[in-house]
Amino acid sequence: MSDQLTVYLNGRYVPYSQALIPVEDRAFLFADGIYEVVRCYGGRPFHLDRHYERLCRSARALELPLPLDEAAFAGIVAELLERNNLQEATVYLQVTRGAAPRRHQIPQGLEPNVVAIARPGGTPPAEAVRRGVKAITVPDNRWGLCWVKTTGLLPNVLAKQRAARAGAYEALFVRDGLLTEGTSSNVFVVREGVLYTHPLANILPGVTRMVVLEVAREAGMPVREQAIPVQWLEGASEVILSGTNSEVLAVVEVDGRPVGDGRPGPVFARLREGYLARVAAETGAAVDVGA
Ligand code: PDD
Repeated sequence: MSDQLTVYLNGRYVPYSQALIPVEDRAFLFADGIYEVVRCYGGRPFHLDRHYERLCRSARALELPLPLDEAAFAGIVAELLERNNLQEATVYLQVTRGAAPRRHQIPQGLEPNVVAIARPGGTPPAEAVRRGVKAITVPDNRWGLCWVKTTGLLPNVLAKQRAARAGAYEALFVRDGLLTEGTSSNVFVVREGVLYTHPLANILPGVTRMVVLEVAREAGMPVREQAIPVQWLEGASEVILSGTNSEVLAVVEVDGRPVGDGRPGPVFARLREGYLARVAAETGAAVDVGA
C-alpha cells in the first residue's frame, strides 16, 4: 500500500519509496525531532491552527528552527490529500534537526528535514466507540518535558505494548500517584458529577483535550483541571479518553475493574457528540456519532 503513496519531503512530493532521509539524521540517532498528527474529515483538517501552534512551541523548546509557517503546513496537508485522493485521513508531519556526524552537541547551520505522510482513516473502530475500551495503568517513566511533542516516544511505545498484551486499548500513565495521560491520549475522570483532567503541567496539551474542555464548559458541566489521584478511578462514574486518533472514547474497564456500571456513560456521550458537532462545524464534514 505504501508504494502507492505520495509523500512530502523537503518541498517535494515524491513516491514513498523515493522519500529518503540520511542515516545520520539526528531524529534517527537521538530522536531529535518533533511531529504533529492532524486528522482530516471530508478532506479538511481539524484545528490545523492549534496543531501548528503546538509545533511552534515544540520547536522553540528544542531550539529547532521551524522551516515552515502555518500556510505552508496547511498547503502540505491539502496537497497530500489531493495527490493521494483522500478525504478521511490522518496526516503525520515530522520536522527533524537534520543530518550531521553523530555528536551530542547540536551542530550549527543544520538543514531540518521535513517529511509528511497522509494515510487513509483515523476514526476509532465503531466497536470501541459503542462498547468503550479497556485500559491499564503503568508508571509514568517519561522525561520532564512531556508537553513537547518529540519523536522520543519509547516509554509510550512500551506502555502501549503492555496494554496490547493485556488486551487493553490504552495505558494510562501514573506519576507520583496521579493519573497524567494516556500513551497517545489525554484522560478525563468523572467523579461526583465533576469532569476532571490533569492540568497542563508535564503532559501533552492535546488539541482534542482542548476541544473537549470547550464542549464541556459550553454544556455547563462542572470542569476542573486538577491532578487526579489514581485511587479516584475506583469511585469514578466515567473515564474518558481524548486524542486525534481516539477522538472521544469511553474507558469501561481499568486494570480489570469496571468503571461505573461498565458501559459508556452519559458524559462521554455528550462530549463525543459535542466533539463531532465541532468537527462538522469546522470541516463541513457530516460525521456519524457512531455509538
Ligand atoms: N498523540 N497525550 C499524548 C502523550 C499523545 O501522544 C497524544 C497524541 C495526546 C492527544 O493529543 P491530541 O488530542 O492533540 O491528538 C495526548 C498522537 C496522536 C500520536 O502520537 O500519534
